[in-house]
Order: sequence, then C-alpha cells, then structure tokens
Amino acid sequence: MARPQSRYVCQSCGDSFLKWEGQCRSCGAWNSLVETLVKAASRGTPSRRPEGTAASATPLGSIEDPDVGRLTTGIGELDRVLGGGFVPGSIVLVGGEPGIGKSTLLLEAAAGVAVGGRILYASGEESAAQVRLRASRLGLLDGPAADRVSVAAESEVGRIVELARAERPSLVIVDSVQTATVDDLDGPAGSVGQVRESAVRLMELAKGEGVVVVLVGHVTKDGSIAGPKTLEHVVDAVLNLEGERYAALRLLRATKNRFGSTDEVGVFEMRDAGLAEVSDPGRAFLVEHASPAPGSVVAPTLEGTRPLLVEVQALVSPTSYGNPTRRASGLDANRLALLVAVLGRRAGIALGTHDVYANLAGGLSVAEPGLDLPLALALASSLRDRPVPSSTVAIGEVGLLGELRAVSGIERRLREAARLGYRRAIVPRSGASFEIAGIEQHPVATLREAVQSALVDGSAPGPRREPAGVGARD
Ligand code: TYD
Ligand code: MG
Repeated sequence: MARPQSRYVCQSCGDSFLKWEGQCRSCGAWNSLVETLVKAASRGTPSRRPEGTAASATPLGSIEDPDVGRLTTGIGELDRVLGGGFVPGSIVLVGGEPGIGKSTLLLEAAAGVAVGGRILYASGEESAAQVRLRASRLGLLDGPAADRVSVAAESEVGRIVELARAERPSLVIVDSVQTATVDDLDGPAGSVGQVRESAVRLMELAKGEGVVVVLVGHVTKDGSIAGPKTLEHVVDAVLNLEGERYAALRLLRATKNRFGSTDEVGVFEMRDAGLAEVSDPGRAFLVEHASPAPGSVVAPTLEGTRPLLVEVQALVSPTSYGNPTRRASGLDANRLALLVAVLGRRAGIALGTHDVYANLAGGLSVAEPGLDLPLALALASSLRDRPVPSSTVAIGEVGLLGELRAVSGIERRLREAARLGYRRAIVPRSGASFEIAGIEQHPVATLREAVQSALVDGSAPGPRREPAGVGARD
C-alpha cells in the first residue's frame, strides 16, 4: 500500500498545501500550517468506513456504566482527582513542567495498577535501563510491577499500538507525547502535526481496545501543554502536576475530566523515594515563623472541596529609582495592582511610591478572589511594619470601592482553621453568620475596617496559635 499522503493544512482558513510555508498563501495567517494526513479519497463509494464497523446506536439504559470497571491505582490522591480511578477505554493527559515528577507519578501508578493488570510503559525520553533505575529507586522491583509492567523504549505510535494489541495491557503509558511520532508524517517529533496525529491514534487504541491510555505532556513556560491546545479536546481528562521544582510539594489538579469533578486536587510531596501522598494537606503549605512577621497573613482557601491554609507574604519597600515594581508569584499580578490602588484610595495605605512584592509560601499558586483580603492585609502590615497576629486568618474578596464580598464555603474554611489552632478570623460581614467553636469571627464591611481590626497594636488576643491536637507547629 502506498504511504498515506500528508498535506499542510492552514488552521485558520482550512486551505491545504504540499509544502510548509511560514504564511498561508490563501488567508495570509502566519505559522498556521499544520502537517495533516489525508486519507486517500475513495471516489464513487459514499462511505469511507472500513468494513465491519457499521454505525450503530444503543439506548441510554443499555449502555454499560463506565464507573463499574474503574482501574484504581492505589494512590488515593490520584484516584480521587480522576473521580475514582481510570475509566477503561479513556485517554488521559498528564501535564506539567519538565522535572516536576510526571514520570515518577505514573510509574508509581503503574505499580499500583500492576496488582490487578498488565501495563505497557512506552518511553521515548528514557531508555529501559533508566526506567528500571527509577523503579528500583521507588522500591517497585520487589512488587508485582517487576513482572507486570513492560517497558519499551519506543516512540513510534504505530509500533506502540502494535505492542499494545499484542500484549493486551489494561494501561498504556506514553512518556511523552512530545517525543511520540507517526511514521506517516515527516515533521519532527513535538510538532503540532505529529503530536495531534499521535494523540488521535492512541485515542483510537483506547476506544477500540478498551485500554486506558495515559499521555505525558510537557508544559511550556507560558503554561500551555506544548504542541496544540487541540490535544485537550481529544483526551477525556487533563491532569496537571504543579508546584515549584525546588520545593517538595506538588499539586495534582484536573482541568478537564469527562468522568469526574474538576474541583478535586491531590497533594503530594516529592521525597527521596518518590512522590508520597499528603493526606492531611490543611497545613502543608504553611511555613513556620519564630515570631509574628510583618507582611504575613494566613488565608483559609478552598481547593475543590478541600480547605487548605496558605500563607500570603508581602514585602513593601520605598522605590529608590524609576517606576515602582509590582511582582506577584503564585498570585494574580492584576489583582495585586488593583489592591494597591484600592488600598491607596479607600483605606489610606499609600503604596504609590513603593516597590511591592507578593507571593504564596510553599510554591503554591491559587487564583481565588478570596485571597484579596489576606493579600491587602499583608501589604498594609508590611508597610506599617506591624504584624498581623499569627493566630489570625483572613479571607474575602475586595471590591473597587473597598467593600468586602463574601466567599463560598466560609464555614468549611473556618472549621479547618479552627482545627489547626487558629483563634481569630477576619471575614466579610456579608457572609452567612454562624458559630464555629474555637474561632472568634470579626465580620468587617470594608477594607479600612479590616486593616484596623487586623493590625491591633501588635497584641494578639490570648496565647498565640495553639494547635488543637494534631502535629503542633510551634
Ligand atoms: P520526573 O518524574 O523525572 O519528572 P518529569 O517526568 O515530570 O520530567 O522527576 C524528576 C525529578 O524528581 C528529579 O529532579 C528528581 C526528583 N526525584 C526525587 O526527588 N525522588 C525520586 O524518588 C525520584 C524518582 C525523582
Ligand atoms: Mg519524565
């Protein structure tokens, strides 16, 4: 059979060309040509369907429940983010920056699945020996993984599919989709055409054979999964492994999940022997201080259904030269700029001639609006050089008029704060009012009030943070 032909198809007007060019000759768009396979048009026959796959439809009630045969990995945090394990016949993309721990997580997941099934691990990045080395570091060579996980240093998708059809594993891991290639296309590995065609063929493998296919995808600096966004449409779930490479904590988030919620997060810690689950992450992202520090405020955030306490840090210093700097890491830089303006106009905290730096401790990144209030208080605390008592938490969204707005799930957040030994909470007045044992609530209506309530002349009410039971921190 002749080799299928490939064409370069413009992604903005759909015209196709025989050769790659930087600009589409039809519509003038730049960098829009993507190598694509063209199926040999079968003239005369209306259907191009291969034999034996007649179209069929099934009544809803008779379709198999996909929840029944979920493949669990034995890693609680991963299974939870997936919605209870992998669904057979699905394809999942696991993204993250290089070196964050994707291969480690998936090898551990493979070992978990090995208890009840076979796994094909196709690595285009590492040799089989390197995968073995990692497995031995993770202590997996003594378990069922030693026999049931087959490793292939292979990146050509046709051969991976062949291997999978021959070995009939229940899980196929392709590490990574950026190294995967399809022989029928000429483009280099990692090009949009190759990545997309590889993903489509692996999806056909998943749906056709009922196996779970996991693709590893590296995320570029700007946060997109390298290659095309189109990958996200092809796959059933997208999981992202986040965190700072040099900090130990990792967060696994589902940004898309056809078989579960996208709210859940999984928390892991990178140790010497692999990624370990952090099953009580409430305090995982807090840092210890010997004494209350100006510019630090603890906020009870909510990640999905789970409350996480995080420390917002701010540093304010007079600008010595040029325009004042505003830097945020783990926080929204636009919100920071806005809060600086609101603080100046509505709360008498003038930062116009100050450099401002803000971050979340522990390498976490959180985008929820409830962080407005703790961030604003951290800025005020740093400027005035007066600490917010370390037994205090704050949460709330700040409006342009300096008014505070309620956040969702306030009760769950405060319960967690109380459990971890915090005794005072600054919350928006508009939130629902209820009593929570052990924590005294200070409802405030405006940012100005909040600043007054938080920066109480350095004196905290009662003894500072007294953790209730579980693992005292200070
Ligand atoms: P890796 O899983 O190779 O990352 P990715 O596949 O996302 O590129 O993880 C690599 C990093 O993790 C590397 O810097 C070393 C570290 N690591 C540990 O700290 N402990 C371990 O047990 C392993 C296997 C890796
Ligand atoms: Mg890797």
